[in-house]
This record gives sequence, structure tokens and C-alpha cells, in this order.
Amino acid sequence: TDSEVFKEGLAGVPAAKSRVSHVDGTDGILEYRGIRIEELAKSSSFIEVAYLLIWGKLPTQGELEEFEYEIRTHRRIKYHIRDMMKCFPETGHPMDALQTSAAALGLFYARRALDDPNYIRAAVVRLLAKIPTMVAAFHMIREGNDPIQPNDKLDYASNFLYMLTEKEPDPFAAKVFDVCLTLHAEHTMNASTFSARVTASTLTDPYAVIASAVGTLAGPLHGGANEEVLNMLEEIGSVENVRPYVEKCLANKQRIMGFGHRVYKVKDPRAIILQDLAEQLFAKMGHDEYYEIAVELEKVVEEYVGQKGIYPNVDFYSGLVYRKLDIPSDLFTPLFAIARVAGWLAHWKEQLSVNKIYRPTQIYIGDHNLSYVPMTERV
Ligand code: CMC
Repeated sequence: TDSEVFKEGLAGVPAAKSRVSHVDGTDGILEYRGIRIEELAKSSSFIEVAYLLIWGKLPTQGELEEFEYEIRTHRRIKYHIRDMMKCFPETGHPMDALQTSAAALGLFYARRALDDPNYIRAAVVRLLAKIPTMVAAFHMIREGNDPIQPNDKLDYASNFLYMLTEKEPDPFAAKVFDVCLTLHAEHTMNASTFSARVTASTLTDPYAVIASAVGTLAGPLHGGANEEVLNMLEEIGSVENVRPYVEKCLANKQRIMGFGHRVYKVKDPRAIILQDLAEQLFAKMGHDEYYEIAVELEKVVEEYVGQKGIYPNVDFYSGLVYRKLDIPSDLFTPLFAIARVAGWLAHWKEQLSVNKIYRPTQIYIGDHNLSYVPMTERV
């Protein structure tokens, strides 16, 4: 019966056949197009990884240079979009600003020529190129400054950090940030990717696809967790407070942010890479007092709920890395979005290639045949 096949949150229910990425949650393995994340994080740039995800193979030197060139020359945003952002409240969350501006891009470019490879290529390039510019622009505008124009001399990661500060970043900091983007670029059928595929399946334009995915990523159970992790470390405040904090959370059935995953039942391989990056950053750019709190928290959470498969996920150490790069905590989720655009676009293309509109069913558990009560008789 329907009730027997129903799974809350569609847990364990396949929603698509995909070649984009693979997770083995028992052995802690993540592959993009069959290649282990550890290798990609070590040897490829984010743009190379985006190419791999979206076009299905690692680019040759020439293909990569062409893709980078196209992205570099499409980074600017229309003044209409900048002016629109100036009307946003400064106190608004940057994810809401990003969702709105991603949707607004569609006003300029939506042609819905989904069978034209040039349209697909241009949409891929524009979204990868312009999303970082829009995140940085809203940040500058809310501080009362004019947005900083993209710098054509800088690569993708360095240019984003530059647009936040108008200073060319330290090359090591930019490299670390680029690896963070690679680590967040794709992760199978998570909530925002599912949202992207559902939207894509209606054959709407790619800007609407990305805007719906951004809206889905914003929640605290998904991309919003990285920001919450830092707030939590701040609230805990000291290594001694870790144990009482964990005990209090578990007693109140509260989630400890940055832990647990629908698929991983071991430590997320991305958290292992991020922890290592955080340590390298601290060695080079100075220590962070929150790090000891984080390490103790990992130890105590494992002691209490490790047997349930609750271990650090990707969001646990990413906040510490971004904090060291002087990025404000409410930009952490937009950074996740900048990276995940690559995965969403790969799924958008894949969805178009096999498309059938998503139209699941439901189990109706409401009433039938109620008598209509006129307004004057309602209580
Ligand atoms: N802290 C404490 N207990 C937890 C946590 C946590 N973070 N996560 C899961 N559990 C417990 C949960 O209470 C349940 O226990 P019991 O079986 O005794 O009731 C058990 O583990 C299974 O939990 P679930 O709710 O069935 O697991 P789920 O697959 O529905 O949830 C999750 C996955 C990521 C939403 C959840 O682990 C969570 O809320 N984590 C905190 C938020 C977070 O860090 N999110 C980022 C996820 S990774 C990146 C991303 O997707 O954006």
C-alpha cells in the first residue's frame, strides 16, 4: 500500500538516476564523477572541478583555459541588479539577497532555449561567474559601500576574496578558500539539489532552478548549519563548558549543529580535509581559540552519540576556516551556495537529458464530506 512505501523525508528513496557524484556513508567516501574528493581537493582548482561535474570529464589544459576565460569575462553584473540590491534592507540575510538576485538574473537572460547548447553553456558560465559577484556586492552595499568590480587579473577564488575587501588576498588563503569551494561543490541528492531537479523538471529557466536551490540551502538543517556552528562555539565559550553544553542539548533533544548526516554514519571525509586545512591556516596565520572548543566538542559528542553514527559533517570545521579568512559568519551559507552552483548546474543538465516532470503522490489523511458552515455560524 501507499502507507507502506511512504518514507518520511523520502529517506532512502531514490529520486533520480545520476552519474554526478557518489557517497558511501559507511566507509566515508565521496566521489565526483567517480574521482575521490581527496584527489580533487589536492590537485584540481574549483573551476576544474566545476567543469568535471557539469561536463562530465576532467578538462584538458585548453578546455580549462577557455572555461576560465569565459567565466572571467562574465563576472560583472548589470547595474540594474546592483541598484536593486541597494533597495534591499541592510539587515536582510545575505542568502535572501542571493536568492532574490539569482532569480533576477533570469529577467535578463531567460530565453528557455533548453535545446540550444550555446544557451546551456552561457547559463552555466553566467551563473558560476555572477553568483560570487552578487554575494560580494550585497555585502559591500549593506556596509554602505559601492560594490567592488571584479578584478580580471585574479582567479576565481582570489577575485571573490578581493571583492569583499578590495585587497588582493594572501595566495595561501586563496588556495584554502578554493579547496573549500571544491569540497562544497556537490553532494548527491541533498535537499537543495532535489529542489533544483524538481524545478528543472518543469523546463523553467536555469536562473529559477538556482534560485529555488538557494532558498532550500538557506535552512539551518542544510547549508545554514555552518553559520550556526560558529554561533554555538561562541556560546560555549570555553573548553570546560563543552561537556555541560552537550549534556544540556541532548537532554533537551536539541541538535548539535555541524554533527550528523542523513548518509554518513562516520566522520564526513570533507570534515577531515577541512580540519586539516584549518590547522594549516592556524599554523600560518595564527591560532584560533575556538579550535580547542571544536576539538573537545567532537570528542564529547562522539562519546555520547557516536554509536548512533553522529559525527562531524562538512559544516563543522568550515566555519573556523572562514573565520580565519575574516569572512563574516552570515556569508558562510552564501559561500556554500557559490560552490554548490556547480553541482546544481550538473544536476540541471542531467535532469534535462532524461526529463520527466516530478509529480509525486501523497497519502491524504484529511476529512471528507464535511458540511459547509456559513460564516455567521462558525465558531
Ligand atoms: N545532534 C544530536 N543528535 C542528533 C543530531 C545532532 N546534530 N543529528 C541527529 N541526531 C540524532 C537524532 O536525535 C536521532 O536520534 P534518535 O534516533 O534517538 O531520535 C538520530 O540521531 C537520527 O537522526 P535523524 O533526525 O533521523 O537524522 P536525519 O537523517 O533526519 O537528519 C540532519 C540529518 C543533518 C538533518 C541532522 O543530523 C541534523 O539536524 N544535524 C544538525 C544540523 C546540521 O549540521 N546540518 C548540516 C548537514 S550536512 C551539510 C548540509 O546538508 O547542508
